Amino acid sequence: MPSLHGQPEALPTDSRAVKRCDQLGAHPFSDTQDGLFRAYLSDAYKATCTQVAQWMHEAGMTSRMDAAGNLIGRYEGQTPGAPALLIGSHLDSVRNAGRYDGMLGVMLGIEVVAHFAAQGLRLPFALEVIGFGDEEGSRFPTSMLTSRAVAGTLDALPLDAVDANGTTLRDVLHSNGLDPARYLEAAYKPQQVLAYLEAHIEQGPVLEAANMGVGVVTAIAAQYRFKVSMQGVAGHAGTMPMSLRKDALAAAAQAIAAIERIGASGPEDLVATVGQLCVGPGASNVVPGQATFSLDIRAGTAQVRDKAATEICAALHTIAQQRGITLALERQNDLPPTPCDPDLTERLATSVARVTGHTARRLVSGAGHDAMVMAALTPVCMVFIRCKEGISHNPAEAVRHDDAQQALLVMLDFIRTLAASPAQEPTEFSA
Ligand code: GLV
Ligand code: MN
Ligand code: MN
Repeated sequence: MPSLHGQPEALPTDSRAVKRCDQLGAHPFSDTQDGLFRAYLSDAYKATCTQVAQWMHEAGMTSRMDAAGNLIGRYEGQTPGAPALLIGSHLDSVRNAGRYDGMLGVMLGIEVVAHFAAQGLRLPFALEVIGFGDEEGSRFPTSMLTSRAVAGTLDALPLDAVDANGTTLRDVLHSNGLDPARYLEAAYKPQQVLAYLEAHIEQGPVLEAANMGVGVVTAIAAQYRFKVSMQGVAGHAGTMPMSLRKDALAAAAQAIAAIERIGASGPEDLVATVGQLCVGPGASNVVPGQATFSLDIRAGTAQVRDKAATEICAALHTIAQQRGITLALERQNDLPPTPCDPDLTERLATSVARVTGHTARRLVSGAGHDAMVMAALTPVCMVFIRCKEGISHNPAEAVRHDDAQQALLVMLDFIRTLAASPAQEPTEFSA
């Protein structure tokens, strides 16, 4: 049997993980004919799970869909049933997405297992590759639902939440053969799990500017998501004098400008975004009576995020009051800042240095990741992969094959080191 020690051998120049992401970037793995949109439990999601499960089997894993619709592959260790190192990211995407956000981490997890299986190497722990179903929240107004189910932090399911077609989460689960009453059974017990490793494209420009192909994440920024509803009075665009209008869209426009101003007035890590806006009734000759928009606020610390959220809420209330508009603010997501595990992060940084010959670039992630949620279950760490011009959530998203191969080498080195020198007390290794 090959040794756990020593450097992994050189890999091919082409990354099969990148090629597979490209293959999954279009119909039938996308719900849209043009570009990529893969929604949680959609037809494209099911087609993707079928294809990814086949690749998991070819790599030497068994696979299953869990009670929350996550796809999970397992490669047993030296002792069947041993706790697992989880390697995960998400299968779902935003609308008009890039091909690598989430998916590259899953494909690299499969490559890790394929590599060890090809060597006939069994580790002192199992490897599980998880493709999470809902990280983006792009189908239902709730994100990271499925990693929260796995981490055991989901208290209740928003079964009445509806997608853009008005279909409830309850109906979507039923039509996929998933029982809402059993959804929380997706939860792992801490003793089943060793740690969580996620590889992800950086989605920002830092690694490219540093001329590094890979980097190590130290923490993930805090997030809030709100749904903001402004209710005015719809009226005739020709007869309603400007002074008497209660125009919900004009109020929303003023609110959005205030959000941008407050977001820009804080430290550099503070960001505030309105990414969705729905206007009703939505006709050119009708004064808008209804405007609903999303609000996403993030910062490296909860204090900075919360201070901005308080200022924004106060500004929105003032605007609504001045314009005679009814305002409703619904908080849909509250993710605290998540530090990555210091010991695992140090080990990853050592692997990056060994593979690249350079000190690892460490960075905070402004983007959210399933790792944030998994941190409640087990220690987490993340490796970032450079992406072109930092562009993400955009079809122009691009990664280099050699960077993806470098990330794979880092993951292999990290896992070999972990196997040779466990991160936790040896007793944690027993089932
Ligand atoms: C996920 O991509 C997020 O950061 O919103
Ligand atoms: Mn994303
Ligand atoms: Mn992502």
